[in-house]
Amino acid sequence: MLATPQIQKEIQRRRTFAIISHPDAGKTTLTEKLLYHGGVIHETGEVKGKSGTKAVTSDWMELERQKGISITSSVMTFDYDGLRVNLLDTPGHKDFSEDTYRVLMAVDSAAMLIDVAKGVEERTKKLYEVCRLRKIPIFTFVNKLDREGKDPLTLIDEVEKTLNMQCYPVTWPLGIGQRFRGIYNRLTKEIWIYDQRREEVEDYKIIPFEKGKDDAILYDYLDKESADQVIEELDLIEGALPPFDVNEFLNGQISPVTFGSAKQNFGVDTFLQFFTKYAPGPQPRHTKDDKEIDPLDAKFTGFVFKIQANMDRRHRDRIAFIRICSGKFERGMKVQHSRLERELRLSYSSQFVAADKETVDEAYAGDIVGVGDTGNFAIGDCVSTSGKVQFEDIPKFAPELFGRLSVRDALKRQKMQEALQHLSEEGAIQLFIEPHVGAQDPIIGAVGELQFEVLMHRLKDEYNLEVKLNRLPYSVARWPRTADGKPVTELKGGANMFRDLIDNPVVLVNQEWDLNWLKRENPDVEFQTSISRA
Ligand code: G4P
Repeated sequence: MLATPQIQKEIQRRRTFAIISHPDAGKTTLTEKLLYHGGVIHETGEVKGKSGTKAVTSDWMELERQKGISITSSVMTFDYDGLRVNLLDTPGHKDFSEDTYRVLMAVDSAAMLIDVAKGVEERTKKLYEVCRLRKIPIFTFVNKLDREGKDPLTLIDEVEKTLNMQCYPVTWPLGIGQRFRGIYNRLTKEIWIYDQRREEVEDYKIIPFEKGKDDAILYDYLDKESADQVIEELDLIEGALPPFDVNEFLNGQISPVTFGSAKQNFGVDTFLQFFTKYAPGPQPRHTKDDKEIDPLDAKFTGFVFKIQANMDRRHRDRIAFIRICSGKFERGMKVQHSRLERELRLSYSSQFVAADKETVDEAYAGDIVGVGDTGNFAIGDCVSTSGKVQFEDIPKFAPELFGRLSVRDALKRQKMQEALQHLSEEGAIQLFIEPHVGAQDPIIGAVGELQFEVLMHRLKDEYNLEVKLNRLPYSVARWPRTADGKPVTELKGGANMFRDLIDNPVVLVNQEWDLNWLKRENPDVEFQTSISRA
């Protein structure tokens, strides 16, 4: 049964997306400008909290500030042109790829941010592959046009070749770096003149421009060499490209490209205008039993893609972030928890505007709500107002670094165990328990070095625990399974067997060579690199 027309209308105006990029491409800067256009912040600099500007980030972002990296993914909501836009932040650092993967499970489209001088960088490529796997439509924003960089044709060629995806330039830059004078919007047939002193959107100088007829205008703004080059480039792309096909974009076959400078707030509104017109609303979601859930369905469904503890240290809280997949959420509603097979009340709920938390009474498919959690939720858990729903799994990655923690003050051991339990449920680290030693002395696994660093920082900062990390020689974790997917608890060949957080058997070995040995000794066993949580 479909939801009421009023609810359907609310769902249809939701747009949920994430920005993917390599660190330093300008994601924070672009986010800030998007929030500015969305009316959430009134002076830029509020998100980043640089010296001299207003810092509104909360305490748990302290390490991010110190290191200048984005670690946890936050959700930011703003209204633009009648739409309710949910922007999910993704950690750009490679050590947080798992967190990013989970975020990308919760969006309906992504914006790929590329530095004009650096082109497609390693992290962008990896994140792009995740989007491709999920067939998410991708917008491309080429940033830092106010700096010297690659010429636009070379850049587009690089994107197409590296990512094996076609690009469709929506705007085209007029010069670059010192000679950057504006952009031409091919769809609206307008030139937007760049002026560094411009502060308000209304201050734009916009000139109607038709290629072929109005070429002379370019010489009024660009030097002859740059104008000649732009005309040549436009001749080439106008002649070679078919008109924009929205279906090819929605299928993930082509990516519309816009150019700009996030720092100078130029081209950001052009991007937003295009985004508003073409970004897809909430998409249907597949369940494990091969059904499809329509976002406009009357029943409420959702899944947990992120758990964050201690966002507010004054009250030791834990928040489970739910992506609503269908229907309407109401604070205090009763839902069926699919994994626990029991009813729960979602009473404490919030949404996020920049880093500020606001209580939310209702939300709709496409939205993300943070609900207070007392330990009922794990990543991948599904909730529904009508029966058991299990959406497709969110994979867990195999860690490559291992260690054991020791705390100097023996009285604090219990506290450390609790902290590790919280942080592993959050997905910040993975815990492995030795059968004979038990949960009081777990082994910690991380995908990257920075994850350990964050762990140590958070233990000190959030739990007041001074701990020492003793590294272990393991580098490979595998989940042994039979061909039909049953856990294997015993292996031949002297394997080090452990249990993960949800009691699955795991084998840890020092190197690939040891793993190959185990494979030879146990030819009927599959050694899986990741395992679903639910
Ligand atoms: P990230 O979140 O993707 O890591 O990138 P972030 O926004 O922090 O930007 C990285 C650096 O690039 C910052 O410089 C930022 O100002 C700069 N930047 C972002 N967009 C543009 C742009 O369009 N043009 C130019 N010229 N620079 C841009 P920083 O030196 O680290 O900090 P800041 O002191 O300049 O803020």
